[in-house]
This record gives sequence, structure tokens and C-alpha cells, in this order.
Amino acid sequence: MAADAGIRYLSSYSDRLPELKAFDDTKAGVKGLVDAGITKIPRIFVRPDELAGKELNSDNIAGLSIPVINLGEITGERRAEVVEEVRRAAKSWGFFQVANHGIPTSVLEEMLERARENHHQPAEVKAEYYSRDRMRRVRFASNFDLYSSRFANWRDTFICVMDPDPLDPREVPVVCRDVIMEYSKRVRRLGNTVVELLSEALGLKPHHLEDMDCTEGQMILSHYYPACPEPELTMGTSEHSDPTFLTILLQNQNGGLQVFHENQWVNVSPIPRALLINIGDLLQLVSNDNFQSAEHRVLANRVGPRISIACFFSPHFYTSTRVYSPIKDLLSQDNPPLYRKTSMKDFVAYYESKGLDKKRSIAHFKL
Ligand code: OGA
Ligand code: NI
Repeated sequence: MAADAGIRYLSSYSDRLPELKAFDDTKAGVKGLVDAGITKIPRIFVRPDELAGKELNSDNIAGLSIPVINLGEITGERRAEVVEEVRRAAKSWGFFQVANHGIPTSVLEEMLERARENHHQPAEVKAEYYSRDRMRRVRFASNFDLYSSRFANWRDTFICVMDPDPLDPREVPVVCRDVIMEYSKRVRRLGNTVVELLSEALGLKPHHLEDMDCTEGQMILSHYYPACPEPELTMGTSEHSDPTFLTILLQNQNGGLQVFHENQWVNVSPIPRALLINIGDLLQLVSNDNFQSAEHRVLANRVGPRISIACFFSPHFYTSTRVYSPIKDLLSQDNPPLYRKTSMKDFVAYYESKGLDKKRSIAHFKL
């Protein structure tokens, strides 16, 4: 497993699989490597040649930043304005921040703190949860695409599948149990508000997207990005767009998130108390490109840990067979469907088999 200083940037080597397996078998994730005191990253994490020359730092000379939408007042006359702001943000960026979203700061802070404590539990406690069994509703794993991506990311993830069937809280580690249940309930309420606004932004009835079961499932991913001794050689999260309808993201103060917009990477600087919302691939598909699912990534950092909580809204990832295609009301002679139909189950199977750092999954469903 030791990193070989002479072999950097190699995208394939004959003993890669045993090295991935050895890492996986530790059940301790990337944090386990850092705790062991490594000073060079193992080569399974090294970005391959063809990516290595690419500039990581944001070249955002235009000073762009993602839109911020105030959700404090969304009734009366202001509603039409908010719907218009949401429409513009979802169309041109696919990513926006929301202020006055209704989730108390104390809940956000506690969520981040308890997520940290969860990742800091003793290795033997975490190992009990370590699993690649997608049917396990509460589990810990490093790199869901460890065996399908070109290089591993500097990130561990703790996953809780909250809905559509209620999760027995006793399945959640006690250090973060209460706050996950609380956060989940509140973020669901916010998710419902946002999909109503998005439905209206498409010119549909407020409940249109919800009635399509777009948000019936909820998965909470608590990501932990340890400090990295060689951040320029790897990534926290490779560039991707989300296999969801909608994602709501909470991040701590250690930045690194970037969104691809107008041909450049734009830093998403942490704003205390704000939450990020992004459009997922399935919403791009059903909206027939009226909304876009923005590509984003997270840089590795010498400073850490970066902690983020992603809440994925979609029908059940692995079981939902409900079929989705571009919404009929949005189609006309001049606006023909751009995508073929798919189910969540099939979309996610394709997405996961491909790994993050390759061509976008949605392209595969284009007509
Ligand atoms: C994700 C994601 C970003 C982050 O979970 O899909 O992009 O900041 N997370 O961890
Ligand atoms: Ni993402």
C-alpha cells in the first residue's frame, strides 16, 4: 500500500486491484490512513496522467458567485419574484444558496458537529458499519465507486437512507441519532418548499413534481474529507453531477467546493447558516433541459477536516421502477423530448457502474 514516490500519476498498474482491496479491507477509510500518519498519499488516490495537468484552482477571473435566494418570504407578491429567481438559477447555474430557509442555525451546527464525532468514533466501532451492501440503510464506506473510478477520492462517507420507508432511529449511531432525525425532518420540509417553487418555475402546478414522487426518498450522506498531505495529487470529490432530482447541501467552513459554470470552475465559499441547493440529473431530464444539473467537485485540502452533509431527494435509489421521461406539458412541436425514459433504479445502476470521474451519466439517456 505504500505510495511509491517514483510512480506518480499512473492511471493503471497491474496490482491496482489488490491495493484497492487492501484499502477497503482496513474498513477505516481515508481517515484511517491519516490517523496512521502517512505523509505521501497511496497511489490509488493519485489522479491519472490525463487529469494531472489540469489546473485545480479556480480560474474565475470574472468574480462570479452562485446566486443567493432569500426564502424568508415566499407568499403574496414576493412569491412570483422568488419563483423567477429560482427559475433563472436552476436554468443557468443549476446551483444556488438559500438564506432564511427556516432550519435553525443550532440544528445546522449540531448536525456538522455530530457528523464529525461520528467519523471520529474508534475504528472498531466504524468498522461495524463499513459495508458496500447497498441495501443496508445505515452504513459507512469510503468511495462508493472505489472499484469503478480511475482513482480514489480523499473522502469517507456515512450514509443513512431515511425515506420512503421510515428508518428505525436505533439503526443510527447514538452520537448523531437525534440530530439526524431532526435534520432529516427539517430538510424534507425545505425540500418540499423548493420543489414547489421549481414546479411553478416550470409553469406547472405547485405539487406537480412532488406528485411524480421526485422527492419521496431521502438519503443523507455525511462526507468527511480529512486533511490531505498532497492535495494537488488527488481530489476530495471528482467532478460529477448528482443522480438525484434535488440535493440540499450543508458544508462546514473548510471550503473546496467548486461548480462548473460558463466554462470555468467557480468556488462556492462557505457562508455560515446558508444551505446549497442543486438540481440533479433526473430533474434535468424531466425538465427537458429547462433546468440543468451542474457539474461540481471538491478539492482536497491540506487543512481539514472538511465536513459536508448532502441530502439526496429522489425516488428510492435502488428499487424504484417508476418510469421518468420529459414532462409532457413542457413538450411541443418546437420542444421535442431530449431524453429517453428511464427509472431511478436503472439510472443509478448506470451511474454507479461508471464511477464519478467519467462522462456524465445523463448523456447516456439523451435521444
Ligand atoms: C455530493 C457532493 C459535495 C460536498 O455528495 O454529491 O457533491 O461538498 N458533495 O461534499
Ligand atoms: Ni454532488
